[in-house]
Amino acid sequence: MSTVATNEKIPNNVNLAGDRRLQRALEQWQPSFLRWWREMGPEGFQTADVYLRTAVSADAAGWAHFDYVKMPDYRWGIFLADPVLDRRIGFGDEMGKPVWPEVPGEHRNALRRLIVTQGDTEPASVEQQRHLGKTCPSLYDLRNLFQVNVEEGRHLWAMVYLLHTYFGRDGREEAEALLTRRSGDPDNPRILGAFNAPMEHWLSFYMFTYFTDRDGKYQLLALSESAFDPLSRTTRFMLTEEAHHMFVGETGLSRIVQRTAEVMRQSPDKDPRACGVIDLPTMQKYMNFWYSISLDLFGGEISSNAASYFATGLKGRAHEERYADHVALEGTCSIDVVKDGRLVEEAIPVRNAMNEVLRDTYIEDSQRGVDKFNGVLEAHGVDFRFDLPSKRFHRQVGVCAGHHFTPQGAPISEPEWLRRRDEWLPSPADDAFVHSLMRGAVVEPGKIANFIAAPKRGIKGRPVEFEYVRFD
Ligand SMILES: [Fe+2]
Ligand SMILES: [Fe+2]
Repeated sequence: MSTVATNEKIPNNVNLAGDRRLQRALEQWQPSFLRWWREMGPEGFQTADVYLRTAVSADAAGWAHFDYVKMPDYRWGIFLADPVLDRRIGFGDEMGKPVWPEVPGEHRNALRRLIVTQGDTEPASVEQQRHLGKTCPSLYDLRNLFQVNVEEGRHLWAMVYLLHTYFGRDGREEAEALLTRRSGDPDNPRILGAFNAPMEHWLSFYMFTYFTDRDGKYQLLALSESAFDPLSRTTRFMLTEEAHHMFVGETGLSRIVQRTAEVMRQSPDKDPRACGVIDLPTMQKYMNFWYSISLDLFGGEISSNAASYFATGLKGRAHEERYADHVALEGTCSIDVVKDGRLVEEAIPVRNAMNEVLRDTYIEDSQRGVDKFNGVLEAHGVDFRFDLPSKRFHRQVGVCAGHHFTPQGAPISEPEWLRRRDEWLPSPADDAFVHSLMRGAVVEPGKIANFIAAPKRGIKGRPVEFEYVRFD
């Protein structure tokens, strides 16, 4: 069991006090982080008391401690899951050898790139979400937004810890750069596409936490298989927090679906929009958007980088233990590529298709929640059903980038795409409509905006109408 130092400046279970040099480096980075948080964190709520969960240790009993805290005083700590005794590499060419406690020189650049790319998404999402507090549908939702935000801040800490500890001066420079890129900034954007997309309202927030945080889950699962043991332990602990983010997305969407379905049942002849709720075809468009840009995050279908990450043990598959063959040198994956405007199936060696393998497990997991939303519609006697679009639809990365497809996956010409785009993806008018339902913040305890149903239960045994955020 690791010792936990919670009373220090930086709570941790990595014995920071025993490594003065590292402690000093992180303590120097801390003010930059706080400056970034005040500048780019939740706007207008920095002095509010928020009922938040704070990780105070990495074991099952102690990692979720609930209390009121002002966000800038949140105790962003560094926690690694406990080490697995005699852990061995579980896949690739080095399968069966002991895992690495340090970074092997030959993998230094690739590992740093993986860590920086993951780390960059964490502050990016905080930046994307920073205006949402001003239009929150309830105090309960406001608190959940802030919970997600502070934990993404902690995930940044987790990655910065790795950079500072194992990558020397390069690592410290990367840690600084993580605080200087800005989501959506044309001159200095965040690394990955989805993390530069504007997030202007709560429908997009729930879509993001359902679809994009789920990409995070699968990336973390794949990295938790890594032969670089500190990365594995860091990401394993991050996954415990990530589960809550996806819960926020799934229940948020489910509550919007429920509210719309209730209104449709009460007033079957009326346009749901006229009743102040989000109509289902509009929700489907936002689903198409956030799902497709989240699919891009897994990278190209055919990737020599992915093959080498797998071969060298840097990045495995999600739940590697569920596969029979951990070497994956035999067999192929069939992938549709576009040739002369037509789809042609190609057999790709499995290692080169690792991004696609991870994407497919993600798709299966994404479908599960969509089935639940459809269950809500069915229970209300509403005929509409949501569908995840084809994985070819609206892709900017991989073999489909530069080509156009319908949500069902049929290839279409560019003029047809341009003509029909607004049937399938949110238009500026859709954005304006959804925005019109979220004019101000609903901050009276127990009150809830009209477009969303109340949550089934509150947080940590508290009632739904509990004062989750207090203002001075
Ligand atoms: Fe995260
Ligand atoms: Fe997350």
